[in-house]
Amino acid sequence: MRVVALVGNKGGAGKTTLCVNLATALNARAPTVILDADPQRSSLQWRDLADRDDAVEVADAVDDVDAAVGDARARFDFIVIDCPPSVHAPQTARVLALCDVALVPVQPSPLDIWATVHIEDKVDEARRVNPGLRALLVINQLEPRTKLSQLMRQALAELSLPAATTAISRRVAYRSSVLEGRTVMDLGSRGSAAAEEITQLIEEVVGT
Ligand SMILES: Nc1ncnc2c1ncn2[C@@H]1O[C@H](COP(=O)(O)OP(=O)(O)OP(=O)(O)O)[C@@H](O)[C@H]1O
Ligand SMILES: [Mg+2]
Repeated sequence: MRVVALVGNKGGAGKTTLCVNLATALNARAPTVILDADPQRSSLQWRDLADRDDAVEVADAVDDVDAAVGDARARFDFIVIDCPPSVHAPQTARVLALCDVALVPVQPSPLDIWATVHIEDKVDEARRVNPGLRALLVINQLEPRTKLSQLMRQALAELSLPAATTAISRRVAYRSSVLEGRTVMDLGSRGSAAAEEITQLIEEVVGT
């Protein structure tokens, strides 16, 4: 497994947040690059804020996803791709056609769950050219003690895409770290619970 993509059909689901955190955690294991395929270029903005050399590299893949992935395969062990918030965007279609795993962050809200139905169709379409494509929903901004979050798992079970066992909680650490071009791994004890769930998600997705 080398190419992990954050895809979705809803703005603000957490694609960029998970992208920079997962890529930074992967980079501690093996050379990793982020490819930003979203015309909003949020991952590139995050990298601009990170005024240090050891932050994970981010390359622009908006105009040509295939070329960017081709370049990156030669130099990196892991490629993490941040996608636009629409499955109808041409970048999302290209990414689904070539990635190994598509992670779909979903917030615990009915509107977000309904928006993922369109993703299922696009994943099925992509499997015609990319039969090995794995796609996993990732619950994001979970508030474990709320009734809605408990109902969320039941609602997701009715979709055809499986959900990752690891859910990402709503935590200030995710917001404050990104503002500084950092990740939850840089926050010491303030970020340790978040860092732990990011590690768990990586183990679930790419193995140890
Ligand atoms: N687990 C979380 N806990 C707290 N805040 C979060 C979490 N995940 C995302 N956020 C916040 O939610 C907002 C949207 O997240 P993000 O920008 O990562 O979503 P996105 O899917 O990339 O959005 P877009 O579709 O616009 O690209 C941001 O303010 C981010 O800090
Ligand atoms: Mg984004």
